[in-house]
Amino acid sequence: MRLDVFTLFPEHFDWFVTQRHISNALAAGSEINLVNYRDSTPLSGGQVDDAPYGGGAGMVMRVDAVDAALEDAYGAERAGRRIVALTASGRPFDEALAVEFSREPELTLLCGRYEGFDERVVENLATEAVSIGRFVLAGGELAAMVIADAVMRKLSGSLGDAESAVEESFSEALGGAPEYPHYTRPADYRGWGVPDVLLSGDHAKVREWRLARSRERAR
Ligand code: ADE
Repeated sequence: MRLDVFTLFPEHFDWFVTQRHISNALAAGSEINLVNYRDSTPLSGGQVDDAPYGGGAGMVMRVDAVDAALEDAYGAERAGRRIVALTASGRPFDEALAVEFSREPELTLLCGRYEGFDERVVENLATEAVSIGRFVLAGGELAAMVIADAVMRKLSGSLGDAESAVEESFSEALGGAPEYPHYTRPADYRGWGVPDVLLSGDHAKVREWRLARSRERAR
């Protein structure tokens, strides 16, 4: 997958791209391209934001600056591309959307800053608006990393054990339910034990127990 992230702070991703599952995905052929809005803004002094019409606190990302960045990156090739504006008021990000995004050969994430985007970015330039939760971040960068993390771990070559992304919380394999609990050694710690069934070696019983716990958590 080729993931393009438009941001005012490309250096925020320095740490992110060194994380093992991300660097694995990159080594397996995926790409993360960081595009700085300031590199293509038509406004003087690298300006990309402005005060909101109607007054109020904060600054708003300008539609012309975002459009220029997209134009610079894609030219006439923009049609058909999935361009996601990251904003607290967008559609909630979830596992189903992570799966959907992971199937896109190319995906664009637009990070906002300050008070977010001029609404015309969402209405006319982006194909959708996505939120990672009902809280307001100082910018879209952490949201982009959350989404990139959830999406890229689904790509082949990202995780050491590909099975770990198949049966996990909210996956199809569990019917969208949260994952069952896990335990590891020691079998007894300060009197806190491990369910006997997990130590029994009876794979059918373990499976049954796990699915029951998963269904329980869904309720
Ligand atoms: N930008 C600011 N807050 C956000 C959120 N909750 N989700 C996505 N982008 C954001």
